Amino acid sequence: MKKLSIKLGAIFFLCILGLESFMFFFLHSALVESRIQEELNALQARGNSHRAILENHFTPDTIAHVALMETESTTDVAVTDADLQILGSSSKNKQLIENVKLPSNEIPQGGLIIENDWETEPFISTVSSLENEGEIIGYVFMFQDTETVHSLIKRLNQHFVLAGFLTVALTLFIIALLSKAITKPLIKMKDATFQISQGNYSISLPETGKDELGDLAKSIESLAHDLTFLTQERNDFLASISHELRTPITYIKGYTEIILKRDLSEVEKQNYLSIILEETNRLNDLIKQLFDLAKMDQNSFLIEKTEVNLKEILEKVEVKLAPAFKEREMTLHITCQKDFFLHADPIRMEQIFLNLLDNSMKYSGAGGITNVSVELKKSQLFVTIRDTGNGIPEEDLPHIFNRFYRVDKSRTRLLGGAGLGLSIVKELVNKHNGTITVKSQIQEGTEFQMMFRGAWSDENDLTGGR
Ligand SMILES: Nc1ncnc2c1ncn2[C@@H]1O[C@H](COP(=O)(O)OP(=O)(O)OP(=O)(O)O)[C@@H](O)[C@H]1O
Ligand SMILES: [Mg+2]
Repeated sequence: MKKLSIKLGAIFFLCILGLESFMFFFLHSALVESRIQEELNALQARGNSHRAILENHFTPDTIAHVALMETESTTDVAVTDADLQILGSSSKNKQLIENVKLPSNEIPQGGLIIENDWETEPFISTVSSLENEGEIIGYVFMFQDTETVHSLIKRLNQHFVLAGFLTVALTLFIIALLSKAITKPLIKMKDATFQISQGNYSISLPETGKDELGDLAKSIESLAHDLTFLTQERNDFLASISHELRTPITYIKGYTEIILKRDLSEVEKQNYLSIILEETNRLNDLIKQLFDLAKMDQNSFLIEKTEVNLKEILEKVEVKLAPAFKEREMTLHITCQKDFFLHADPIRMEQIFLNLLDNSMKYSGAGGITNVSVELKKSQLFVTIRDTGNGIPEEDLPHIFNRFYRVDKSRTRLLGGAGLGLSIVKELVNKHNGTITVKSQIQEGTEFQMMFRGAWSDENDLTGGR
């Protein structure tokens, strides 16, 4: 992880250094250019002011005076007549005298810069023409030694180097702080994920704000939370399975031993054998349900959807269950007047109804009434199963779709339930993109309502679900 902060820091640094160098280069060239321009303008202005005096008094005295004035400053002057014969100069420098020559282009009223190459030439220079009544009577040449310009630029460069060093140092410092601030939470998250991979899910990460890192930390925490929940659920599930499998096997083993060891009458033998058969059936059902659930978990559970008529499915279910209801002195009313169609797996739809109605039958006393009704609202098919049975306590309602959840464990055991029916129903309804809800009042009854999308009936909407 340390490598990441170095990598991040180096990338930041290179980017910022590049940007800064670019900006410094432009700033430096602009400053140098404007300084040189200022020097040239000042030189020209000085030449022009000499010209103003000399135009009025073009006498040897005034020329000598002007030359004298320039000997005291960093600039030099050379005054010539119209033929470039030097009439007076503040310096006897040979190089300076050599540079007293006119430019090829015409000299305007405000004067002209003759030499601005401060880098290679010994002087920068300007010229202003002296006129009298429209005629040129001479020239004022102004010179500035480029040594002074060089030392000016040198000082500017020194400032730039200092500023550059300071900026780089400050940049490095800020980058070190920033990359540490970014990588620190990442290192913490890496440690946390390592802990998770080692099976320790009780991790907590510090708040890092509402940015992407904060989101990542929250995701890791919720992952750890989900894993805790899943591990707990898996352990509970395994404990429930082994318990559910062990109970019928204990019965089967016990009764088989009795039959083998004891000298029993034919009636007793029959009795015990029928218990063994019942437990074997229960075991068979349980294993089948578990197998279905395992397949659903792996998404290898096949739902073969075709166009089905719900009315036909309900009629089949009624034929299967009506005798059992009657035997227990209960009533099953299925009301489905129209043909309602939807895309579904007919076998699984039947399984949904069988599971729900089996519950209504198991958890109602004699005289109980179970009503099944169907309603189509804007291509949504609502199927309601309402019974007048025992009802489910409010605190159990959120859990009844969980695997192996039974409200009254001892009683339901007598009724043969393992607590898997509703979890299978929920999975099957989900696989059909439907929803299932439950309402219940203790001692009054329970109502399950399912909703399936994309349904239609022949009468009012021929195209609804197709
Ligand atoms: N219609 C109902 N009336 C009252 N209680 C119900 C009803 N349906 C379900 N329950 C309660 O919800 C629990 C879970 O139901 P579920 O169908 O999942 O399991 P089961 O019926 O006990 O066993 P299985 O369906 O696996 O044979 C039941 O044990 C029962 O207590
Ligand atoms: Mg059930």
